[in-house]
Amino acid sequence: MSSPDTEAMRLLHEFSNGFMVSQVLFAACELGVFDLLAKAPVPLGSAEVAARLGTSCRGTQLLLDACVSLKLLQVETRGGQAFYENTELSSTYLARASPTSQHHMLLYLGRTTYRCWGHLAQAVREGKNQYLKEFGVPSEELFTAIYRSEDERLQFMQALQAIWSVHGRSVMAAFDLSPFPRVCDLGGCSGALAKECVSLYPACHVTVFDIPEVVHTARKHFLFQEEERICFREGDFFKDPLPDADLYILARVLHDWADDKCSQLLARIGQACKPGGGVLVVESLLDADGRGPLTTQLYSLNMLVQTEGQERTPAQYQALLAPAGFRDVRCKRTGGIYDAILARK
Ligand SMILES: C[S@@+](CC[C@H](N)C(=O)[O-])C[C@H]1O[C@@H](n2cnc3c(N)ncnc32)[C@H](O)[C@@H]1O
Repeated sequence: MSSPDTEAMRLLHEFSNGFMVSQVLFAACELGVFDLLAKAPVPLGSAEVAARLGTSCRGTQLLLDACVSLKLLQVETRGGQAFYENTELSSTYLARASPTSQHHMLLYLGRTTYRCWGHLAQAVREGKNQYLKEFGVPSEELFTAIYRSEDERLQFMQALQAIWSVHGRSVMAAFDLSPFPRVCDLGGCSGALAKECVSLYPACHVTVFDIPEVVHTARKHFLFQEEERICFREGDFFKDPLPDADLYILARVLHDWADDKCSQLLARIGQACKPGGGVLVVESLLDADGRGPLTTQLYSLNMLVQTEGQERTPAQYQALLAPAGFRDVRCKRTGGIYDAILARK
C-alpha cells in the first residue's frame, strides 16, 4: 500500500501535469491524427503517420505513444514495429467524420479557451475575463470580443454545436415539451438544439433568435434548407422585440451574464410570454451547496476567464426566474453535463 505522502504527491503530479494531457489531445486533433487513422484501412506505423501528416518522425512517435497511454489510440506490435489505430473513444468523439465528433470543440478549447486560462490568477484578481490581456480586444461588449473575427465566430459556433450531437436529446427530453408548439431558442446560435427539438417534437416549430452576424454565419455555413420547421431571426435579446412563442429556450445563455443582465433578459421574456407559456433553461447546474460537481465548478471559472457570468445552483436560477413572473420551477438533472429547468408563467 502506498503511504499517504506518496498518494498526495501522485495527486499533485496528476493535477499539475493535467495541462499536458489537454495539450496532447488538442495537438493530436489539430494535426489530424484521429482523422488520418479513421480513414486508413489498416493500422499505421509512426513513420507513415508522420509522412502523411507532414510532421517530424520524433515528435509524431512521442505524441502517438502518449495517446496510447491516454487510451486515445491503441497499438499493435508486429515484427518489432508498432502500428497505431483509433480506440472506440477517438473514432466516436474525435474523428471529424463521426456524427458525434467533438473535434471543433477541442480546437476551440486549444486555440482560445486555453489561452484565456493562462491568465486565471489575473482573472481572479480582477474578477473579469481576459480577452484584452490575451487577444488585445476590449470586452465591454462581451460578444464583440468573443466574435472578434469572422473565423473566430465560425469556430465558436462549430465548437458550441458539437456537444448537442451527444447531449441534445437528453436535455430536450428532460421535460415533455409537446404542449409548446411554438418555440423560440434565444441565443440559439447555429440551431443545433433547435434541430433536436423538432426531431423530438413533430408538431413543433422553432425560431432561432440570435445577433445578425451569427444568423448570417448560420445561414452560410450550417445547412438548414431541408428543415422547414426551423427559421432564424436576427436581433438583440436585450433590446429588440422578442418573437411570439409558447416556450423560450435559454441554453448556455444565462451563464454568460451577471445577475443584473440575467434579470433584465428574463424580465423581457416574462413580458413576451403568455400565461401558460414557459421558459426552459439549459445549463450545467451546481449542487445546492455550490461545492460540486467539479466539472461545473471548472466551467464556472471558465465563465470568469471568458465571459461576465458564472454557473449557478437550481436555487440561484429560481431566484432569477421568480421576479420575472415564472413559477412552478422544476429542475431535472439529466446525468450528463447539461441539465434542464422548466418554469411556467
Ligand atoms: C454561449 S452561446 C450558447 C449558444 C447555444 N444556445 C448553445 O447552447 O449552444 C450564447 C449565445 O447567445 C448569443 N447572444 C449573445 N448576446 C446576444 C444578444 N444580445 N442577442 C441575441 N443573442 C445573443 C450568442 O451569439 C450565442 O449564440
